[in-house]
Amino acid sequence: MALEKAAELVSGSGYVVALVGAGLSAESGIPTFRGTGGLWTRVGEPSMNGYEQFLRDPIRWWEHQLDPGADPARTEFREAIDSAEPNAGHYALVRMERLGILKMTITQNVDNLHVRAGVANLVEIHGNRTKVRCIGCEMRWLRESFDYAKLPPLCPDCGSLVKGDTVMFGEPIPPSVIDACFRETALCDCMIVCGTSATVFPAASFPRMVKENGGTLIEANPNPTPLSESADVVLRGPTGEYLPELVNRLERL
Ligand code: APR
Repeated sequence: MALEKAAELVSGSGYVVALVGAGLSAESGIPTFRGTGGLWTRVGEPSMNGYEQFLRDPIRWWEHQLDPGADPARTEFREAIDSAEPNAGHYALVRMERLGILKMTITQNVDNLHVRAGVANLVEIHGNRTKVRCIGCEMRWLRESFDYAKLPPLCPDCGSLVKGDTVMFGEPIPPSVIDACFRETALCDCMIVCGTSATVFPAASFPRMVKENGGTLIEANPNPTPLSESADVVLRGPTGEYLPELVNRLERL
């Protein structure tokens, strides 16, 4: 059975890493982006040059950011995230980490639910919506702790522009973050791919790199993805159901 095989692979590996997508937070009530009911499916993909617009007119970008009613299409997404709680999938990853099995979680999600579930080792490749970041030195602050009296906010350390920590389309992944992702992927001999359509790069390249290095892939997703063919085990269902079951088996080994 798939869960038994997955538990065997995981327990026989030395450096397990989880790659997480929006699907892990779906059972927390946060819509995914693609597929049926996805946010982009309904309101259309955001502009691919959001970051360029920010650099061109950071004051206007911040005025839009600080105006809650500015973007009704995304209000629903914001409200869903604000009222979301971590679900059994988030807690299963924390249990796996506390067993000493899961070494790192690389998440594409910006909803802060891994942090609230108590994860210790986390790389947020697309940032965290509760934070702001200096685009020069990568210093981060909690969003509400920064002063927006004067726009655009500038880094008190290096003077560069400060923006939301969430990585925008067209924005380079912050160097320290992308370095951490490639370092963890190079160490990984078993990647558990949880709830991602595996279509956005560079995150989607990490499982492929693990396979190329001779590692194994476990996919947990109710739907097939471009990775399904090369996965060693497919847990074809919701992460909120499969991940806790997987950890139950690991705890019994
Ligand atoms: N459990 C596990 N997976 C699920 C569940 C669930 N309960 N429900 C849906 N899924 C799966 C879908 O089948 C889909 O494969 O979650 C995946 C969500 O895919 P996307 O919406 O494309 O989200 P993601 O892969 O995280 O997108 C990557 O794209 O828009 C950018 O920055 C954004 O981080 C995001 C990136």
